[in-house]
Amino acid sequence: MKTLIIGSGGREHALAWKISQSEHVKEVFIAPGNGGSDSEPKIKNINITDHQQLIDFAIENKIDLTIVGPEQPLSEGIVDKFEEKHLRIFGPSKQAAKLESSKKYAKEFMIRHQIPTAFYKSFNDAKLAHSYIDDQKMPIVIKADGLAAGKGVIIALTKEDAHTAINFMLEENQFGNAGSEIVIEEFLDGEEASFIVMCDGENIFPMASSQDHKRLLDNDQGPNTGGMGAYSPAPIVTPKIHDQIMKTVIEPSIQGLKKDGITFKGFLYAGLMIKDESIKVLEFNCRMGDPETQPILFRMKNDLFELIYDACDHKLNKHQPLWDDDFALTVVMAAKNYPNSPEKGIEVINANYKSPTQYVFHAGTKRENEKILTNGGRVLGLTGKGKNLQLAFNEAYKMTDLISFDGCQFRRDIGKKALN
Ligand code: AMP
Ligand code: GLY
Repeated sequence: MKTLIIGSGGREHALAWKISQSEHVKEVFIAPGNGGSDSEPKIKNINITDHQQLIDFAIENKIDLTIVGPEQPLSEGIVDKFEEKHLRIFGPSKQAAKLESSKKYAKEFMIRHQIPTAFYKSFNDAKLAHSYIDDQKMPIVIKADGLAAGKGVIIALTKEDAHTAINFMLEENQFGNAGSEIVIEEFLDGEEASFIVMCDGENIFPMASSQDHKRLLDNDQGPNTGGMGAYSPAPIVTPKIHDQIMKTVIEPSIQGLKKDGITFKGFLYAGLMIKDESIKVLEFNCRMGDPETQPILFRMKNDLFELIYDACDHKLNKHQPLWDDDFALTVVMAAKNYPNSPEKGIEVINANYKSPTQYVFHAGTKRENEKILTNGGRVLGLTGKGKNLQLAFNEAYKMTDLISFDGCQFRRDIGKKALN
């Protein structure tokens, strides 16, 4: 069988790496991939991103299954376009992907279907937004409605910060169209976890729990990023909390979508804030997380190709989740000046390092004259595993002594909160 994976990040490298291990799979194409995504024998990069060209490629090369990694093509309706041509593709339709591509839509959806979330109001008029802030308690959270690559959320500690954020989005249009509507939301305290499931429209297959680290610097300081590291499983998601998430968040969401006339086929990601027994949804994504995918798939014992292929036939119920008992942990190595204007074109030393307990998933890299160069903000995901979180941490961090590039930055405390 032949598989096509759409995307170029660490998540897509991990998907390709895992899919290529299936005995059913002869070839994996990754479009466009990155400087390391094709380092395994069955995987080939193809330099295409245009939707029509991807469809033509899938037809000409008799691709059996296409998997979409990132949110952008999903929000542009790539799944609908493939399905019009009767091509097998895994991911939600454009309509279903609105759960991620519009925060206002997601909030209305959660209220409509009694899914626990923070109190909010939405605005497109700056004056009304400013006067709303005057009556609120700080901190407060201001979110651009549309897709903003993980950077559209501002946590305002003071009213002054909140007014600045409103101006930034609604007056100065710094996020373009994505910020022409905003959600202002109650600040929630607690510990975050990422809970991702696969869904075939009927059946739900929970992935292992994980925890991301969104802030750039140690001790959750600095600006929000796409994610600086993750580990799996997340001890905060005890079996009891797991059941509660399924019952109060995941099942009502899939049912709610159905009631709204939408079949959800794809990965559904709930970003959660957990405090004691209270679980609230911060956001939905309609894809796997990056970097959460890297440690999750590093532990997966199921054949991912079989799972996704069967999910396209609404037969996910044939499978039970099988996870390695080991913990896995990913440290993201980012470029100098990430997240603002990452420095590109710097040579990476030892970029394709691996061992039985370690793997380097590439993200912002490219290959030029047999050298690996940086080509984006989040460059590599150094992933290690071990019998417990400390050993996984050790395996991942050992690689930071072996792999490097000028100006590289990474957090030194991925997983530390759970270790303490
Ligand atoms: P989102 O893209 O909505 O997940 O927001 C990005 C990050 O901002 C989250 O991972 C949280 O760390 C933080 N955040 C979002 N909403 C809230 C909230 N209501 N209260 C506290 N922190 C939040
Ligand atoms: N790591 C967060 C995300 O993928 O949205």
